[in-house]
Amino acid sequence: MPSVVIIGAQWGDEGKGKIIDYLAGKADVVVRAQGGNNAGHTVIVDDKKYAFHLLPSGVLYSDKQNIIGNGVVFDPEGFLKEIDILESQGVDTSNVMIDERVHVIFPYHKKIDVLEEESRGENKIGTTKKGIGPCYMDKIERSGIRLGELLDKEHFKNRLFQQVERKNKLIEGFYESQGFDPQEIYDIYCQYVERLKKYITDTTVVVYEALTSGKKVLFEGAQGTLLDIDLGTYPYVTSSHPTSGGFCVGAGVGPNMIGEVIGAVKAYTTRVGSGPFPTELDDEIGGQIRVKGNEFGTTTGRPRRCGWFDGVMVKYTSRINGLTAVSLMLMDVLSGFDKIKMCIGYEYKGEVIQHFPADLNKLSQCTPIYKELDGWKEDITQIEKYEDLPINAKKYIEAIEEYLQVPVKIISVGPKRNQTIIRETIF
Ligand code: IMP
Repeated sequence: MPSVVIIGAQWGDEGKGKIIDYLAGKADVVVRAQGGNNAGHTVIVDDKKYAFHLLPSGVLYSDKQNIIGNGVVFDPEGFLKEIDILESQGVDTSNVMIDERVHVIFPYHKKIDVLEEESRGENKIGTTKKGIGPCYMDKIERSGIRLGELLDKEHFKNRLFQQVERKNKLIEGFYESQGFDPQEIYDIYCQYVERLKKYITDTTVVVYEALTSGKKVLFEGAQGTLLDIDLGTYPYVTSSHPTSGGFCVGAGVGPNMIGEVIGAVKAYTTRVGSGPFPTELDDEIGGQIRVKGNEFGTTTGRPRRCGWFDGVMVKYTSRINGLTAVSLMLMDVLSGFDKIKMCIGYEYKGEVIQHFPADLNKLSQCTPIYKELDGWKEDITQIEKYEDLPINAKKYIEAIEEYLQVPVKIISVGPKRNQTIIRETIF
């Protein structure tokens, strides 16, 4: 089956956008299936920087179909802003389709996201405040409004007014904050839908027909595996399934239709938001990685927490995603260090453990066991072939492969499209 899944195999922000952009160049269809505009991919083409939040990255190619699948939570305001920005940069966005089943984010979702975070105090999750969790809550609770419903104005009005009444009770009664005027939301969303109409369809049909007619389909993950609502570091997670299995439900495809599963993995580890992070470097090295890797959020601008590569964690994410390949990102950021460490086990209460614990309390008490490797001083940003990498860089990559038992097929040595070493052709 000519389909490729690419997911983040850490806590998100692995630099997937660049590889997605590269693979999108070879694909016919690019599909997003979970999350919303909490995601942030940056792609640099001809020194122009493009920031994506909701749109699939294939949008930069006019001959690709770009699909926002049913599992996404959809913020019309964010979507239209992104469309406007891209169009002002000369990008044709007529090749986008949105599934009629996507759940729509409304202003009350964003407000509840903010209020709920405030009420969590010390235990806040560190959400992007885009209304993602509250929108998925409505979906799972079965009261959410799906995009297709907005096409029937009378029906939409009834549903929205009902929802706003319920949400106002929560916002005003429980949070003691100011509620919303349903008419105001209705009027704005009716304007949005006029612009959105042309994109709305049943995308499961489009994806199925593409797959069965031999077209190349790229399933583009957002966030990262450890932010998965089930398999991530709960509760410090997002509310969707940024895992390979998430594409089956989020795009309406059977598992037998998924071919290669690539995990984008940073050569080190980062995390935004709260929660335990065993290999975190709260020192000068962590600071250097942050600056060299420009580790500040695309969506929120927040500084990311940085640390050494955590093999235990990636072995776990590799297992639950069924990785067939690793795309090793931001390898150039590690140039210049005398020594590089890679975590190959945890010590927990005097015992060595090899499996990433599900229990956060246990994870927070794990101390990393490191393998120390010699670093390399050379600038690797212009290297095009694997053989030309410094010997110690190759040793590091091979140590990762050996530990994970998954081949590193792609290595990224800089932010631009051409700063990519392809060891094995994909697609
Ligand atoms: P939410 O997705 O806004 O609800 O945020 C939940 C958690 O997921 C927070 O810790 C966020 O920082 C994190 N998160 C959400 N989207 C991303 C992303 O694209 N990259 C990294 N972390 C993310």
